[in-house]
Amino acid sequence: MSTLLLTGASGLVGARLLPRLVAAGFECRALVRGEHPLPPEVVAVRGDLADPDSLRAAVEGVDLVVHLAALFRTQDEAAIWRANLDGTRNLLSAVEAYAPRARVVMASTGNVYDADAARPALETDACAPTAAYPASKVAAERLLRESGLTWAVLRLPFVYGEGDGHLASLAALAPRFGLHPAHTYSVAHHRDVAAAVLLAAEGRMDGRVVNLTDDAAVTVFELARYGGVLIEGSAEPLVDPWSGRMDGSLIRELGFVPVVPTVAVAAREGSL
Ligand SMILES: NC(=O)c1ccc[n+]([C@@H]2O[C@H](COP(=O)([O-])OP(=O)(O)OC[C@H]3O[C@@H](n4cnc5c(N)ncnc54)[C@H](OP(=O)(O)O)[C@@H]3O)[C@@H](O)[C@H]2O)c1
Repeated sequence: MSTLLLTGASGLVGARLLPRLVAAGFECRALVRGEHPLPPEVVAVRGDLADPDSLRAAVEGVDLVVHLAALFRTQDEAAIWRANLDGTRNLLSAVEAYAPRARVVMASTGNVYDADAARPALETDACAPTAAYPASKVAAERLLRESGLTWAVLRLPFVYGEGDGHLASLAALAPRFGLHPAHTYSVAHHRDVAAAVLLAAEGRMDGRVVNLTDDAAVTVFELARYGGVLIEGSAEPLVDPWSGRMDGSLIRELGFVPVVPTVAVAAREGSL
């Protein structure tokens, strides 16, 4: 049985991914800073990406590291860089020292792509974001790509489902980030994050940066509506119409088939 370490297990994505990794047959460890409920099969390893000494016990003997831990729901840019770049550096150093044969699958974000794209973003597109969150993710991706470890980077879109509250949060996010209600976003359900991570765990994404998307991008207005919130509409022309949109062809070529192909299907299945 393969052993894996999940970082970020207490987060929006990690809490829903971990039981699926257990169900897939992995012996799971979770790096946790505080007290978090974990599935009974999971070994909690107390540690912090900011504390290199705490990471040896987390990575020693693992075959796979799924690295989700990150900081981005804050305005504190220095803290974002510390968590996302320095934290990843500490983790990769520990993997290099104590589990050099482990495969590392790192979650990144579709926010890395340039906003003024002329089409959905391809993994090969150059991206030079300036905001701390995507810039720190691009820098962390580079660390991983240049590490000499076996690696894959999975660029996640807006992730939703299973009562996580993310869709409803668009009511607050839309005015804060000036999101046009008619803007379409690439999205993926938690079940498909798990499907993609399991594909990466098999090595199907080794040495690649890969976008994850479901089968249909949805407008901000409709996403909020699915979240139970009616946000203000607008008939103003869209600026940067492709920002937030990723091309999902590569992951399909690698064998990915969405379990929840659209938000509408998730709604019908009662898994929003
Ligand atoms: N959610 C989305 O829609 C989305 C979209 C695109 C990309 N992503 C990517 O997916 C990943 C997970 O996102 P999320 O939404 O689940 O984030 P989240 O809810 O904010 O969770 C972040 C996780 O990282 C952990 N963490 C942060 N700093 C840490 C540190 N220094 N040491 C150890 N653990 C630390 C947190 O632990 P504590 O509980 O101890 O704070 C928490 O478990 C991130 O890499 C993010 O960039 C997410």
